[in-house]
Amino acid sequence: MNTFPVHLPQTLATVAQLKGGPQFLDIHGNVVETGNLSPKIAQEPLLAETYEKLLTSRTRKTAGAFYTPLDVAEKLTEVAVLEGPVVDPACGGGIFLLSAAKRLAALGGDPKEIARNQIFGSDIDEWAVAVCRWELAHWAGIEPEEVQGVTKADPLTEKPSGWPDQFGAVIGNPPFLSQLHRTTSRTADRREELRSRYGNLLKAYTNEAWLFLAMGLELLAPQGQMLLIQPLSLIGARDASEIRKKILTEASLVGLWVDQSTVFIGHTEVCAPIVRNSLIDKKQVVRYTGRTIQEVSSVEQPSDPEDWGGLIADLMGLPSTEFTGSGQVEHKATTTAGFRQHFYGLVPGVSEQKEEEIKHPLITTAMVDPFNCLWGQKSVQFDGKKWERPVVDLNLVAEFDKAVGGWMRKRQRPKLLISTQTKVIEVVVDEKGDWVPLTPLIIVEPQEEDLWALAASLSSPIVSALAARQTAGAARSVSRITLSARQLLNLPLPSDKQALNEAIEIAQFIHKSSDRNLERSWLLFGETINRAYGTKNKDLISWWWNRHPEARKQNK
Ligand SMILES: C[S@@+](CC[C@H](N)C(=O)[O-])C[C@H]1O[C@@H](n2cnc3c(N)ncnc32)[C@H](O)[C@@H]1O
Repeated sequence: MNTFPVHLPQTLATVAQLKGGPQFLDIHGNVVETGNLSPKIAQEPLLAETYEKLLTSRTRKTAGAFYTPLDVAEKLTEVAVLEGPVVDPACGGGIFLLSAAKRLAALGGDPKEIARNQIFGSDIDEWAVAVCRWELAHWAGIEPEEVQGVTKADPLTEKPSGWPDQFGAVIGNPPFLSQLHRTTSRTADRREELRSRYGNLLKAYTNEAWLFLAMGLELLAPQGQMLLIQPLSLIGARDASEIRKKILTEASLVGLWVDQSTVFIGHTEVCAPIVRNSLIDKKQVVRYTGRTIQEVSSVEQPSDPEDWGGLIADLMGLPSTEFTGSGQVEHKATTTAGFRQHFYGLVPGVSEQKEEEIKHPLITTAMVDPFNCLWGQKSVQFDGKKWERPVVDLNLVAEFDKAVGGWMRKRQRPKLLISTQTKVIEVVVDEKGDWVPLTPLIIVEPQEEDLWALAASLSSPIVSALAARQTAGAARSVSRITLSARQLLNLPLPSDKQALNEAIEIAQFIHKSSDRNLERSWLLFGETINRAYGTKNKDLISWWWNRHPEARKQNK
């Protein structure tokens, strides 16, 4: 039955009694005896806050039980709740539901009627449910058993019986269960259960919180509003794309709260989309920031689920990204990247280069500097060893692993290599076509005559800004650009061919130059390639240059 220490209900009951509300009932409806209480425990104004403190850190992590501070819940509720009934599908101790009850009372409702008929919630934690019912009853001046809309249930798999068909508002802070961590990743049974209910919305890395958005949409009445706190990764994560699409095509995104003020212990960056259950014409998204839920400027609703980064780009200090392009990388090149086996498959074939030996240089991420491959100029780590001039014997690689050998052979052609997790996109050009790329480098393979056009385009300030915008939200912060080989295909190419040719010349000059101070050439390159994209944004250049590795070298 309950997995919590036996003293817990009694402790809560004692706190509850101290707070002077109705008697605390356990889930069987029996009055819990009160006992002695440590004075520290009674300090929190809400019983829910006391309860949260009594949870073990493991329970909090595995259930995603990080309750919302009351001030934040109250302000968010004010923005999102326009009418009842209201539901919080993962209500915990009821902090959001209490805020919603107060909001409905402020809109003219009677507290007793509200607590009995307008407030609904569920949680898988039976004691949280009990605390929530007590909290609402205490506020309304009724008995906890009269708060019948709050029940123990998992609404992701089954809608609790007794809930109305539709709600005026869905609010709350569902559990963030990231699939990237072992403690919060779902079991195979759970995956099956959710897959049968959510179909292609469920991907390998679907956070449980995103599914609450899909479920919440189904609960909303026409014109009803939903606000559910989410990890910021909702904005940019690849596996959240279907959920973003569902919101855009079945409803309207009318607001977005973005917080980086560490409101929640354990989650630094959160957001909360405000979704209205109707397709409206004037698609403006009102944005709010910070713990005080301050309204800032509105932006247009994105039409593309892959471009939600634009909703927060300026708030994260990214420059604006207007440009005129002509086609995309996919029209000129294919892109690919190796996996784990391509990394480990190289191990038997790598050796230090001997005099006169002709083998293929092994290129690692650490050797990639913009337009400059540092092979032979700096030592690198690979397979737990330090290497000065690592080369690869592809025959040996193929002997050990035919597939990896074959894949590497195919890469033996003129190409670009791009390192990931950098502050701006960094490209090196393999004109001869004999380099062997080490995972996780991204490989771009154009026609030979387009090599430098693509290198210059991908190295442009505007393309780095666009990629950072895509990254915004997907990573923990926008300081590093994370791009996949597939995302690279959608990046734009410039429209002004003359300016592009000028930029190529400067890029090749930088590539060949042994000069140490290349700041002027780089800035000229940035301005010229930006011109090729029809953008004159000076902020864009300084944003890019501030992040550029060459600028960091100059400052040393
Ligand atoms: C982040 S807490 C938020 C609680 C409350 N809404 C608040 O803002 O204070 C998330 C809650 O979701 C509950 N929970 C976890 N998985 C759940 C599920 N599948 N269905 C319902 N509740 C769940 C946890 O027990 C926890 O109380």
